[in-house]
Amino acid sequence: MSETSPKLRAELDGIPTYKPGRPAAAGGPVAYKLSSNENPYPPLPGVMETVLASAGAFNRYPDMACTGLMNELADRFGVPVSHLATGTGSVGVAQQLLQATSGPGDEVIYAWRSFEAYPIITQISGAASVKVPLDANEVHDLDAMADAITGRTRMIFVCNPNNPTGTVVRRAELERFLDRVPDDVLVVLDEAYREFIRDTDVPDGVEIYRERPNVAVLRTFSKAYGLAGLRVGFAIAHEPVAAALRKTAVPFGVSQIAQDAAVASLRAEDELLGRVGSLVGERTRVYDGLRDQGWTVPETHANFVWLRLGERTTDFAAVCERAGVTIRPFAGEGVRVTIGEYEANDLFLHTAESFRKEIDEDPRGAGGS
Ligand SMILES: Cc1ncc(COP(=O)(O)O)c(C=O)c1O
Repeated sequence: MSETSPKLRAELDGIPTYKPGRPAAAGGPVAYKLSSNENPYPPLPGVMETVLASAGAFNRYPDMACTGLMNELADRFGVPVSHLATGTGSVGVAQQLLQATSGPGDEVIYAWRSFEAYPIITQISGAASVKVPLDANEVHDLDAMADAITGRTRMIFVCNPNNPTGTVVRRAELERFLDRVPDDVLVVLDEAYREFIRDTDVPDGVEIYRERPNVAVLRTFSKAYGLAGLRVGFAIAHEPVAAALRKTAVPFGVSQIAQDAAVASLRAEDELLGRVGSLVGERTRVYDGLRDQGWTVPETHANFVWLRLGERTTDFAAVCERAGVTIRPFAGEGVRVTIGEYEANDLFLHTAESFRKEIDEDPRGAGGS
């Protein structure tokens, strides 16, 4: 066999690999997965029936144009179908956005830490990542992000609420930032957790997009709508961005099952958003519980909380896992913990309480927040 391997693109060297949330540990007395910001509720019965009916035809390709879903979304958001594009989850659409805008020599700005797919998909595009640190309150530093714009900037992600901190940028500061962005730079408002927001000062990206041709909004069916395993997300953007997204889509990428489930979910929105309301209630319980225990927790607007644990991060994740709750550690920085079912949240709160006591009793425990 030849020693020479096929030539691969140099841009792929050293690419960070996406770390999915660990599954719940098997074998223990209880096992809850709070590591991937998933919806803990099982599929709604009506959505399940739709999926089962759709599954009977998977020998056929799906509708490549996602016609039914596009029409439903156009009605739901009051936008033309030509301003919509779908993809295999919103991460798929984010990758299409990069393919459409950015390549070698270009720059893509985003806050850091933020959604861990951004550096990966940016590097794959060949463009350079410009990571702007979150401010001391774990919030996007929009002034610094605007200062980072150069003639090479092609795209800017604003993750609102931000994964993994749950923090938001509000209307006035976002508008001020957008006023500073040149018209030929695309700003992507990644609103994967939009449905969990209750603060009316946090703008709906769709309203902002209507006024600004260089703004695109990313949404997903994975979180509030509970379709993470079916892989369907979408963007709302002006022409020609939406058209470019349709060009860069993987042909037939969104399965018919996913399309039909998304339509059924939009039609069952009241019931689904009722579940989201319960999760928001649980979020308040977890947030208040952690604060009462003495933790510093940034105010969260998503379905997860962030604890900046520093050096204690991996220890805490291991303790949680032994207790039966899998969370998402970012070594040396902190942990993100999804709001799950009541029992899972309870178990997490109990585990956090014991760990907090250990930190408080250990004078060397400067890493705890
Ligand atoms: C901020 C953000 N954007 C996008 C996504 C991608 O979600 P999906 O590809 O499932 O739509 C996620 C998933 O965790 C996320 O946190």
